[in-house]
Amino acid sequence: MGNKIAVPRGTNDILPEEMPLWYEIESVVRECFNLYNYKEIRTPIFEDVGLFQRSLGATSDVVNKQLLCLASDKKEGFALRPEGTASIVRSYIENSMNRKEALSKLFYIGSMFRGERPQKGRLRQFHQIGAEVIGTDVCSPYLDADVIALSVNLLKSFGLNGFKLKINTLGSPEDKETFSSMLRGALQHKMLDLCEDCQDRFDRNVFRILDCKNKECRLIVENLDIGDRYLSQESRDYYCQVMAVLTRLGIEFEESPHLVRGLDYYTHTVFEISDPSLGSQDALGAGGRYNNLVSQLGGPKVDAIGFALGIERILLALGEDQKQALADPLLAYLIVLDENLMDQGVTILNELRSGCISADMSWKNSSMKSQMRQANKMGALNVVFIGADEMERGVVGLKNMETGEQEEISIKDQNFDLLIKKLH
Ligand code: HAM
Repeated sequence: MGNKIAVPRGTNDILPEEMPLWYEIESVVRECFNLYNYKEIRTPIFEDVGLFQRSLGATSDVVNKQLLCLASDKKEGFALRPEGTASIVRSYIENSMNRKEALSKLFYIGSMFRGERPQKGRLRQFHQIGAEVIGTDVCSPYLDADVIALSVNLLKSFGLNGFKLKINTLGSPEDKETFSSMLRGALQHKMLDLCEDCQDRFDRNVFRILDCKNKECRLIVENLDIGDRYLSQESRDYYCQVMAVLTRLGIEFEESPHLVRGLDYYTHTVFEISDPSLGSQDALGAGGRYNNLVSQLGGPKVDAIGFALGIERILLALGEDQKQALADPLLAYLIVLDENLMDQGVTILNELRSGCISADMSWKNSSMKSQMRQANKMGALNVVFIGADEMERGVVGLKNMETGEQEEISIKDQNFDLLIKKLH
């Protein structure tokens, strides 16, 4: 016998018993995006490496350390997508969406790939729910707040409520430049006290030192006195208005001056939603504005904002009750008490399904007790019984598995309407 082959580290099978929850999440997502007037888009799972280098930043960790490149015998270089924004922007430009509509509101659900060191909540293949809003003259604090509210409302619609929204602004590209020189100036003399990663970040991506988790680095960062001096008055006013609109919409948030994000394309508003119950990988989702990315990739001068939520982290944050409430339960489990009644059994099962009742049964003749156990295991909401006595009287037994209530329902003349009505 050969050795068994395991699933690659940092990836997961999504097993049949987990699928109902995934379907439900995806269906809640589609409903919610529909309410906000977003349209779905699907792009390839791999792209030209250059796309990620030019958008996320050649020095960002995601490109520098985590990009999963595909072996190719040609000169072309492809990589599995580590996130969705770059691909959506590529598609926006390639399909001249700006000529078709003033504002494109797009959403996507799909797998992303990062060559990270796997741990709880950190995978090499994971799934994101993402949204991108791209258009001419849509740099509006009202839109920023609407997009942030959408990300929060999506999480609430899954039943989550223990999360925290943090927001910050990086200001305009010029403000960002000022910010990075101020940071370098303030950190220059503390270089040797920074962790090895941060010493590397000093040149590569100085902002990332601000959200380093290392204790010593944190202490140094807490004592930096930069405040929001790097911001122009215009950027400051914009940010204040985003916060005012969030308050008007009843969205709770916390200002977080050290929130900088790991991808290069952000300017102005950035945000992150975290759930303390998740431990070290606590970000459920994140996003922000990226007004220069489209033109930087050769497209028109348009503004843009978006976010992405991690589905696996959402699942980790959901309690058993919340998962139960989300998953579509089996409405009926049929118990056939006598093997000679299998013909009637399959007829009833077929009728229930025609009436849009999800239904199943035990396909082998076993005791009542073992069939009840099976119904319980499947989480069936109701059990329908048929035995010789019931068939003679033209009825079936119906047990509500939640309340334990039991009754008889007529199926005289093979009319199943009453039973279907009861089960809906
Ligand atoms: P991100 O912060 O890199 O942003 O990822 C967004 C979310 O994806 C994270 O908050 C987390 O829930 C999930 N995630 C990221 N990496 C992993 C991983 N290795 N394992 C499991 N889950 C993970 C972006 O991707 C941006 N494209 C968001 C955006 C859209 N900004 C503007 N538009």
